[in-house]
Amino acid sequence: MSLIKKNKESKEIIKDIKKLKAEKNAVILAHYYVDGTIQDIADFVGDSLALSQKSAATDADIIVFVGVHFMAETAKILSPDKKVILPDINAGCSLADSCPDVDFEEFIKKHPGHTVISYINTSAKVKALTDIVCTSTNAVKIIESLPEDEKIIFGPDRNLGNYISRLTGRKMVIWDGACHVHNEFSLEGIIEQKKLNPEAKIIAHPECPKQILTVAEFVGSTSALIKYTKEAEANSFIVATEPGVIHEMKKLSPDKFFIPAPGEDAECACSECEFMKLNNIIKLYDCLKNEEPEITIDEEIRKKAYKSIKRMLDLS
Ligand code: 13P
Ligand code: SF4
Repeated sequence: MSLIKKNKESKEIIKDIKKLKAEKNAVILAHYYVDGTIQDIADFVGDSLALSQKSAATDADIIVFVGVHFMAETAKILSPDKKVILPDINAGCSLADSCPDVDFEEFIKKHPGHTVISYINTSAKVKALTDIVCTSTNAVKIIESLPEDEKIIFGPDRNLGNYISRLTGRKMVIWDGACHVHNEFSLEGIIEQKKLNPEAKIIAHPECPKQILTVAEFVGSTSALIKYTKEAEANSFIVATEPGVIHEMKKLSPDKFFIPAPGEDAECACSECEFMKLNNIIKLYDCLKNEEPEITIDEEIRKKAYKSIKRMLDLS
């Protein structure tokens, strides 16, 4: 298909999406990791904390969550009376998958008397086993809100857990999970890029392992990284997180340069999250038109999971 025809078709689909959205009183929420075209038509683009706050506050009848499954599930937990749909039901998360609820329950039993803090990248069942949910934006604040002698279990991301432990000085029992995107950045590749671009600041998400965070000149959640690139005096950045964020970074700073940090995989140095990238405008259109795939959650699990997310929102 020619590029002109493809662009014309995309424009038509986007027009149809906007029409359907208005007819159905739907809101489109998108994460910064999804394709830029979708970010541009979404009503709200955010990181996982901002998106959960938005899901709790919307008065739309339908939430179209363009992100991954655990994020749409979180929206449903917070807004049970709304229909929550996700363009591709297979948009999972390797980090959430690294913590099956049955195993996590056993882990908690092995460490009685601990407060369970779980990263938002978990299933509803894991959230139901959790005392307080956190995201990379508020994890330090939430840990520091607990008494110093509180025994803490942190799951499922070992890199984020260890990073917070180093920052706060708190010892925590940490679940051994990781995200396949953030865990796989190449230290040699990043150092090579820094040699080629000595002025560029290395910035990284705390889901990256210690060796990457050690060379990073700024570490922060998705929204913190975006804010940093806007406010920093530097003109270029080596970005060690999912490269979808560069869309927003470029929008905010059109004259700055963004270099996606290379991954370990020599075949593909792109470090994209293939789950996030399962979303596209055709699936978004179909999902809005047919109002499926829909997210459903057992009510007992939802109520328990709600408590742990609510505690996070109250502390944020
Ligand atoms: P944020 O909480 O920074 O949005 O991160 C979500 C995520 O999936 C990171 O990989
Ligand atoms: Fe999950 Fe990693 Fe993808 Fe984020 S980047 S959604 S943690 S697999």
